[in-house]
Amino acid sequence: MSRSTDPSSPIITDTEREQDRLRLFLPDLAATRALARRLAALLRPGDLVGLEGELGAGKTEFARALITARAGAPLEVPSPTFTLVQRYELDDLVITHADLYRIADPSELDELGLDEALADGALVVEWPERAGARLPADRLTVRLREVPSSGERARIVELEAGPSWIARLRALAP
Ligand SMILES: Nc1ncnc2c1ncn2[C@@H]1O[C@H](COP(=O)(O)OP(=O)(O)O)[C@@H](O)[C@H]1O
Ligand SMILES: [Mg+2]
Repeated sequence: MSRSTDPSSPIITDTEREQDRLRLFLPDLAATRALARRLAALLRPGDLVGLEGELGAGKTEFARALITARAGAPLEVPSPTFTLVQRYELDDLVITHADLYRIADPSELDELGLDEALADGALVVEWPERAGARLPADRLTVRLREVPSSGERARIVELEAGPSWIARLRALAP
């Protein structure tokens, strides 16, 4: 029986369905950084942020801006492509930045300590798809993609909010 004819199932309107999604146009790197700064202010222990997008989409730039903003001071934030995990013990929050690009099989994740990272702080992960179901489904997904013919500067970002993020999603709009 389809949803619309089953009286026992609530009818989800388009507006409601969009409560967990936000799509923004980011004309340049400054706009990407500004979004990351807004997210930095909302981040709390136990949060998972998944950064999705092709190589060069801007995932590391986004994570760098987020961590630097929350640190409130200049900070070196290298890409964790080779170390896989970088931990930042900031004044009011521990942020772990991981890059799972090189993970070939989800079983390799066990030694990275991502569960512990979520238990004692916030976890920001590039290529979360590589973890399969080993990372919690309740997360904020930040999906970045380049806009063809924008001189490589513009991005479209789709934000998808899990349950713990829905109330915070609107604060991410400019
Ligand atoms: N609007 C934008 N948002 C993010 N990065 C941008 C933007 N415009 C240009 N760039 C450039 O694109 C590159 C993104 O690289 P990076 O963040 O390492 O990508 P990823 O981690 O997704 O592979 C950087 O060189 C950055 O300066
Ligand atoms: Mg990267």
